[in-house]
Amino acid sequence: MKIAVVGTGYVGLVTGTCFAEVGIDVTCIDIDEKKITNLRNGILPIYEPGLEEMVARNVKQGRLHFSTSLAESIKGADVAFIAVGTPPGEDGSADLKYVLAVARGMGENMDNYTVIVTKSTVPVGTAAKVRAEVEGALAKRGASIDFDVASNPEFLKEGAAIDDFLKPDRIVVGVASERAEEVMRRLYKPFLLNGHPIIFMDIPSAEMTKYAANSMLATKISFMNDIANLCEIMGADVNKVRQGIGSDARIGTKFIYPGIGYGGSCFPKDVKALIKTAQENGYQMQVLQAVEGVNEAQKEVLFSKVKKHFGGELAGKKFAIWGLSFKPKTDDMREAPSLVIIEKLLAEGATVSAYDPVAVAEAKHSLGDRITYAKDQFEALVDADALLVVTEWPEFRSPSFEVVGRLLKQKAIFDGRNIYDAAELKELGFTYHCIGVKTDHKEPVA
Ligand code: UDX
Repeated sequence: MKIAVVGTGYVGLVTGTCFAEVGIDVTCIDIDEKKITNLRNGILPIYEPGLEEMVARNVKQGRLHFSTSLAESIKGADVAFIAVGTPPGEDGSADLKYVLAVARGMGENMDNYTVIVTKSTVPVGTAAKVRAEVEGALAKRGASIDFDVASNPEFLKEGAAIDDFLKPDRIVVGVASERAEEVMRRLYKPFLLNGHPIIFMDIPSAEMTKYAANSMLATKISFMNDIANLCEIMGADVNKVRQGIGSDARIGTKFIYPGIGYGGSCFPKDVKALIKTAQENGYQMQVLQAVEGVNEAQKEVLFSKVKKHFGGELAGKKFAIWGLSFKPKTDDMREAPSLVIIEKLLAEGATVSAYDPVAVAEAKHSLGDRITYAKDQFEALVDADALLVVTEWPEFRSPSFEVVGRLLKQKAIFDGRNIYDAAELKELGFTYHCIGVKTDHKEPVA
């Protein structure tokens, strides 16, 4: 089989590389020449564990190619994926100009039956627009080439994308013909060997599945953040409550960890887009509107705790931040709660020294030199008035608290991810604040 994947961003690159890994001939296409040159030299535009090695291996084996020419790469392809960006417009709806431009390019250049698949997360109804665009381009050149469109949403988690792709919980494919179903089943066969299901459905349902999945997960998180905030007020411990409800299989243990709000490229964007789609069609997604509201507020919770602890006076104070990316194992800073927290600290006249294992270069795009970047997690603590744990990177989980206490000016920790044991820290003489647990220390105000 031969496939083309257009767009070498996160989704396209992981998709193309994983298909090459199972022996399929893949060409990844991007209009950005620099990106393609870099990829040919093994330089990736994103950080994802294991991806660099996998790209290098498959390029060497001659199964993975990079090109700037859609015109050449689409020829002879059995399947062509559209994996370009759908940036949110001002009003939150997904902008389809790149998706449709690629569809047009495919219609202008294809020379045999191809299944054209939308892989980017696109609003319900997009596949139909893609079909119209391809048809238009074919008609213009007077060509009558058979093709199908399909929708194949991705469910990749950053930091675990390769595993998610190779061992998916499920593969969802929306099709409108048996021929397309057959091609897609053949393409995904190598991933189905361990019993992972491929679920075929109509195209709008496949498109909706992606939004429904992300919105449900975002809802779980915002719901737990709401419960956490109430636990704190009522003197309950959300960690216990989480275990208590998670053991009910109908609720489940995953995605019920309270924190400082969800971030990243998917949840915020998809929740917004679904609310918008509904509104455009005369329906109000009331639950999702609340989910979004809770998340915005939650990004400020840690800052509010810091401000309260210091009696409202943060000017001249220095804060150590551990973790900048929106979650561990990625350098992605999109919608990262760290940005909200840091901007608020800076606005109060505080200074910030941050450490992140991989996200510093990305963070500099928005924070520049307004904060300092420590070379390791302990350097960030020197002379700081408190430590704020913002992203739960594994290396932050079990530091020497003796060293932490010695480096900090005050033994105060604000843990936005509930990774420490409140009793242990109290014992060691720390003031410890986390999410959803009432910590009733006497608060030293400096
Ligand atoms: C998500 C979906 O999981 C994936 O299926 C989809 O394709 C893209 O969006 P991703 O954005 O990479 O993936 O991150 P994920 O691991 O799902 O975490 C999202 C956010 O939720 C993070 O900000 C994380 O910190 C937060 N989160 C997650 C919580 O606050 N609590 C939890 O219990 C789980």
